[in-house]
Amino acid sequence: MAQSNFGSRLGMILATAGSAVGLGNIWRFPTTTGENGGAAFILVYILFTLFLGLPGMLSEFIVGRNGGGNSIYSYSKAGGNRLWGLTGVMGMICSAMILGFYSVVAGWCLYYLYQALTDNVLGDKAFMASEFNALIGNVWITAGISVLFILLTHAIVVRGVQQGIEKASKAMMPLLFILMLILICAACSLPGAADGITFLFRPDFSKLNATVLFEAIGQSFFSLSLGTACLCTYGAYFPRDTNLVKSSFQIAGIDCGVAIMAGLMIFPAAFAVGIQPDAGPSLIFQTLPNVFRQAFTHSVAYVISIIFFALLSLAALTSTISMHEIGTSMISEERHISRTKAAWVVTIVCSIIGVLSAISMGPRPIGFFGKTLFDNFDGLTSNILLPLGAFVTSLLVGWRMPQEAIINELTSNGRYRLPAKAFALFLFLVRFFVPACILVIILSRFNIL
Ligand code: PHE
Repeated sequence: MAQSNFGSRLGMILATAGSAVGLGNIWRFPTTTGENGGAAFILVYILFTLFLGLPGMLSEFIVGRNGGGNSIYSYSKAGGNRLWGLTGVMGMICSAMILGFYSVVAGWCLYYLYQALTDNVLGDKAFMASEFNALIGNVWITAGISVLFILLTHAIVVRGVQQGIEKASKAMMPLLFILMLILICAACSLPGAADGITFLFRPDFSKLNATVLFEAIGQSFFSLSLGTACLCTYGAYFPRDTNLVKSSFQIAGIDCGVAIMAGLMIFPAAFAVGIQPDAGPSLIFQTLPNVFRQAFTHSVAYVISIIFFALLSLAALTSTISMHEIGTSMISEERHISRTKAAWVVTIVCSIIGVLSAISMGPRPIGFFGKTLFDNFDGLTSNILLPLGAFVTSLLVGWRMPQEAIINELTSNGRYRLPAKAFALFLFLVRFFVPACILVIILSRFNIL
């Protein structure tokens, strides 16, 4: 069904890791880690990634490559009837919402990159706070740049899987690693940086409670792009000889690695100048530039701030591409229209969500349940739709899909060995463990548990 494939193994890994590595790693991970006590949170996060995230990711890859088409097609094929295709539709709706509100934050990154280039981000605490509030208050700018970010994403996606997504990821991902390494070296060389490293690596288990556990699961799913049909869509582009098990470990490994690297560049710098790491979402946009200003000489801080916001913008872009692709491939294949036309549909719908999210944070907030629309989209996707997508996928693979097809995918038609015990463990996880854990999360969100 799918006409496209990734052209090389490296391209495939970088594109999929590019989807996973994003603002979730560099913005959300340090924020949640800071708010939830550091090392103990990270440990739980890694355990959840291993036992929930990895089997979930593998399940989506299995469904995707077995189907070989857009996610409606692949889910229908795996489940044996079109009803299962609704999981793909839900994934598409979820990813459109994520792309909408995510592009607002991605737009802030672009704006701060411009401000960094013009040397406007290295002020003190009060200055940074007033700058940030002024930005959020100016809905014309925030809505405009979020649409700009979606258009940038559009420009890459319309070029196709190999010429657009794969080529862009191959250029952007290595650059992202290099920029991160520079920032980590700069942060860890500061006097007093050791406290930040201790915060990251010495667990204090007294900090753990139910909320921390749920935060860790939510963070792990969001960061792996799980439950949005994104991995299923990309899985369809994997070559037939790709080893799905190994690739899942590699992609999840890169994702966790980058999250910890983000911690290594942020906490040592924050601790070095005596700033507490629990500043919340404003950490990146208000606290950090102030940290750079205090920690380095002006010219070094100038370069570092440019590198930092370039890094954030790049990471966001490799993720928004994947969110866009879910809808683009689905609409073009299901409605039999060109990729370009389908991409425009996604761009327009997501731009509307982006503009509404941006406006909702402005001087006249709009939204439901006493929150802004931005928070509503974030909450609905992260707390409900994403876990629900992963829940249905694990049930599908665990109970419904023919085992022969699963084994074919796990071994790439007999090319790789699959020890019986490993397969039994995988089946146990997707049949019982993953669905049970997700059910607990969803019910607890509704305050039923
Ligand atoms: N994983 C991405 C991040 O960490 C976000 C994402 C979610 C991407 C869902 C695609 C689908 O930023």
